Amino acid sequence: MKKNTNIKWHNGKITKEDRWCISGHRSALIWITGLSASGKSSIATELEHTLFNHNIKTFVLDGDNIRHGLSKDLGFSHDDRRENLRRVGEVAKLLVDAGTLTIAAFISPYADQRQTIRDLFDGDKNEFIEVYLKCDISVCESRDPKGLYKKARKGEIPFFTGVSDPYEPPEDPEIVIETAKLSVEESVAMIVKYLNEKRLLLYKAEPSCNQKIRK
Ligand code: ADX
Repeated sequence: MKKNTNIKWHNGKITKEDRWCISGHRSALIWITGLSASGKSSIATELEHTLFNHNIKTFVLDGDNIRHGLSKDLGFSHDDRRENLRRVGEVAKLLVDAGTLTIAAFISPYADQRQTIRDLFDGDKNEFIEVYLKCDISVCESRDPKGLYKKARKGEIPFFTGVSDPYEPPEDPEIVIETAKLSVEESVAMIVKYLNEKRLLLYKAEPSCNQKIRK
C-alpha cells in the first residue's frame, strides 16, 4: 500500500554517465545468486578485490551483512525475503546511480523476486548481470561452513533454502559458474572476462565523454 503521496523526484545536475566519464568505467549490478555455501561471499570478496586493484569503484552488498543492519528486522519467510531483496535492490540502484560497480551476494531463491530487481535496471546498458552459482546441494551441504545445513536437517532452522524451502534456479542468467568445478580465482576471472566483453570496465573511450565533463 502506498503511504507517501505529494512527493516529487528531484533531478541533480550530475548524471550517472557524467560519473562514468570521471571514473573511466561504467556502473552495474552484478547479482550473485545460489544456495547457501555455493561460494557467493567468497567470489564477491575476491571480485571486489580484483576490481579495486584495477581502480574500479566497487562495493559488495552481502546477504549475511545486510541482515545485521538494514534487514535485521527480517527473517526468511517468502514475504521477508521479498522485503529484504526489495531493500537491497533499491540500495543497489542508488549505488549504481552513484557510479559504483556493485556486487550483491544473496541466495535470492525466487525467480520473480530476482526479476523485480532486474527490472530496476537498464538491460540495454548491461546494468544487471545475473551470476548463477550452480552447485549441487550435496556439495554445499558437505562444505557447510556455518553448520547451518546440519541444523536445518535437524529441523532447527525453519524455511532453510534447499532443505525446507525452495530454490528456483535462474532460467537465463548472464553467467553460470559451476563452483564445484572451478576455483574462486577461475570464477572471478569468468566474471571479469564478461565485464570486459561488455565494455563495462572502460568508459573514457566513449566519444561523448569530453563534452559531458562539466567545466
Ligand atoms: S535471501 O533469501 O533473503 O536472499 P540472504 O542471502 O539475505 O537470503 O541470507 C542468507 C544467509 O542467511 C545464509 O548465508 C545463511 O547464513 C543465513 N540463513 C539463516 N537462516 C536461513 C534460512 N532459513 N535460509 C537460508 N539462509 C539462512
